[in-house]
Amino acid sequence: MSKNLAYYFYIVVLSGLFSCQSGTKKDENTLASIKDSKVLQYAIEGKVLYESYCANCHQKDGTGLGKLIPPLNPSDYMKEDIGRTAHIIKYGQKGEIMVNGVVYDQVMPSNPRLTNMEIAQIMTYIYNIWGNKEGLIDANTVGGYLEKND
Ligand code: HEC
Repeated sequence: MSKNLAYYFYIVVLSGLFSCQSGTKKDENTLASIKDSKVLQYAIEGKVLYESYCANCHQKDGTGLGKLIPPLNPSDYMKEDIGRTAHIIKYGQKGEIMVNGVVYDQVMPSNPRLTNMEIAQIMTYIYNIWGNKEGLIDANTVGGYLEKND
């Protein structure tokens, strides 16, 4: 093989590696994997809201912060009860909980100013990325969750 040809292959292999890497950037990849256009529309709005209301603590990629902030990516606790998540977002959460077998006992502040629509968008986002596929969670559904045992 000529030297030039060897370089050529080297570059092809390298560029392949780089394009793979950018293609697996976690959240982009998962948003792009949402097929339903309404779900995608909610999730895109939800991502912006998530990044301003939640990511400071739970982190952009949802992995949490050590023993202080539980993860959402992944979280057996979050998957177990969708309605409870609406309550947690609106009213906050304190006291001992167990997430993926780890005990957390901190305080999450409430978000009284978030509308049902905004909560719906955040929930559609977090429930359709990171390996979740719950589909659309709309404002009416959130309203129903919040009315129950208010
Ligand atoms: C100030 C930090 C902070 C912010 C901001 C915050 N959380 Fe939390 N969150 C926590 C803590 C701490 C807990 C655990 C509370 C406990 O120990 O009882 C928690 C618990 C949770 C849980 C249940 C446990 C789990 O990991 O599944 C969910 C779901 C959740 N938060 C979602 C959200 C969402 C969505 C937002 C944005 C609207 C948000 N949080 C904003 C700190 C925060």
